[in-house]
Amino acid sequence: MRQFIFASFFLFSVSGVNAQSSAWGQCGGIGWSGATTCVSGYTCTVSNPYYSQCLPGTASSSSTTSIVTSSATPTTTISGSTSQTATTTSTGATPTGSQIRADQDPVYHFYLQNQGGVPVLGPEGSSGYFTIGDTITLNNADGSSLYLNVNESAPNSYKPLVLSKSATTTDWALEGDTIIETSPRELNFLACATSNANIYNVYLQEGNDNPPGLTCSMVSLHLPCLC
Ligand SMILES: *[C@@H]1O[C@H](CO)[C@@H](O)[C@H](O)[C@H]1NC(C)=O
Repeated sequence: MRQFIFASFFLFSVSGVNAQSSAWGQCGGIGWSGATTCVSGYTCTVSNPYYSQCLPGTASSSSTTSIVTSSATPTTTISGSTSQTATTTSTGATPTGSQIRADQDPVYHFYLQNQGGVPVLGPEGSSGYFTIGDTITLNNADGSSLYLNVNESAPNSYKPLVLSKSATTTDWALEGDTIIETSPRELNFLACATSNANIYNVYLQEGNDNPPGLTCSMVSLHLPCLC
């Protein structure tokens, strides 16, 4: 047993995860590849599947780091029907699906995600996971899901993306790794700055109007590189 613990620790060390996260720093979560232990006096505490943080206090057991390693989570799959409602109880399971991200400045590697019911581009640590077909569903960690729709009722050429319980946009598709609408074919999105530098609002741009007073950039949305 002692040898096993030593061996595990050694593997951790050689894989480059030997630094410790600072007080209040991130120490785990889906997509996290940094340190998974905390400086003395702080304990790595799971906030949600995407984020663990070094909080004041000492662990009651020395084995707490094992629950926050980012490499342990992404294999879980909740296979599935997109009409599934929130019946699955899951603590920390990775939602099924793909991330969707932008590849151009100012939102280079900002990820599509739900912020208070609104789809936005934001940090990878809180990225959404999507099932992409002719509908796009956002799969939540609790097994529930929401549809990604374009609000075509909006009066201007920039149409807000919305998350809803039913699918109204049913012509999504992937063209290579690029998210498009097919009828008609549209793939230009506007990413508009908000007061939070880490969050951009997203619109499908169907023409030339720009949201007044906002700083927006035309971007496309992609699956992450699968290499
Ligand atoms: C879509 O846009 C219209 C017009 O701006 C608005 O009244 C409506 O509430 C929006 N729908 C959703 C689901 O956001």
